[in-house]
Amino acid sequence: MSKINELAEKYYDYAVEMRREFHMHPEPSMQEERTSKRVKEELEKLGLEAEIIAGTGVTSYIKGNGEGKTVALRADMDALELEEENNISYKSKNGGLMHGCGHDAHTASLLTAAKMINDLKGEFKGRVKLIFQPGEEIAEGAKALVEAGVLDDVDSIMGIHVWNELEVGKISVEAGPRMAAVNQFIINVIGKGGHGSMPHQGVDALTAGAAVVMNLQSLVSREISPLDPSVLSVGIFKSGTRFNVLPGKAYLEGTTRCFSRELNDKFPEMIERVASETAGSYRAEVELEYNKMTLPCTNDKELAEIGQRSAADLFGEESLAHVEKTTGGEDFSFYLAEIPGVFAFVGAKNEDKVEYHPHHHPEFNIDENALKVSSALYTKFALDFLSE
Ligand code: NI
Repeated sequence: MSKINELAEKYYDYAVEMRREFHMHPEPSMQEERTSKRVKEELEKLGLEAEIIAGTGVTSYIKGNGEGKTVALRADMDALELEEENNISYKSKNGGLMHGCGHDAHTASLLTAAKMINDLKGEFKGRVKLIFQPGEEIAEGAKALVEAGVLDDVDSIMGIHVWNELEVGKISVEAGPRMAAVNQFIINVIGKGGHGSMPHQGVDALTAGAAVVMNLQSLVSREISPLDPSVLSVGIFKSGTRFNVLPGKAYLEGTTRCFSRELNDKFPEMIERVASETAGSYRAEVELEYNKMTLPCTNDKELAEIGQRSAADLFGEESLAHVEKTTGGEDFSFYLAEIPGVFAFVGAKNEDKVEYHPHHHPEFNIDENALKVSSALYTKFALDFLSE
């Protein structure tokens, strides 16, 4: 058993204790006051200096025994607006809030990795930068940290998500697209109201809006390459007030998802063109608002190879698993747009111990053995990258 595996065993009780503490005290995105304070305290107990960044973010360095590169390890800390329905001793004490995505596990694992890396600091050159990030769920945290310069002195970055779609003990650190760019669009269709019995006197925004919804569907099926996976979904369509009133306005809201940076940049223009030309043929106009929430989360090839080797060294080749890329989003993508990095999925599912529920479910829970895997993987990846 390697030294890192031994340390992960040694600090496992600490990891569980931390995870349960954070689980009991979930906080909303960008308001992780208590979590941030506790993370800082725990780092200071190790003799590390911790710095607050972007409100509730925390960063710290662990320096090795000589000059070298800097690798960043990132954990997110925020919870969800969700009422927990688990019957556990460490159930959420904050009504309406729950660690329903596993970010409590990420924070605990990175704190545990900090202890491990600190114990091993005589054995590597360079620096490990710990990044405890706020606001992942609303895709504001990583962006704010990047703007505050968190990556200015960093060569590469690694992030972990515990994953309930994967058995505990399995790890996916794969090159290429892992999670999609998430975008929101709002289309206001502007017509001219009138009497429902005399539509020719006005401009029917509802009919124009319905045509916009239908024609937008042709973007993915007719204009975008079938080899460039993408989604366009309209989730809200509001129009009209009364059966005999001609609607002068329609409101549409939807989301796009894609994995390529090129398509992600082209989407707003495509939507604008189809929406305005479609509405125009009905004499209506449109106003488009387009918000890029996350970018494509794409793993660097070489770093993915290092990550796979790290995982295999710790847990054997059989621990490496394939996880198909998902159309969900991750704000870790804002780091990956700046520097090379890698995002790993660490299995947390074990139906013998914990009933399976997907992420964001009120009964979401993990097999805590995943903490051992993620704290070891953080540590091993950092040391392997620095010794490259
Ligand atoms: Ni998450």
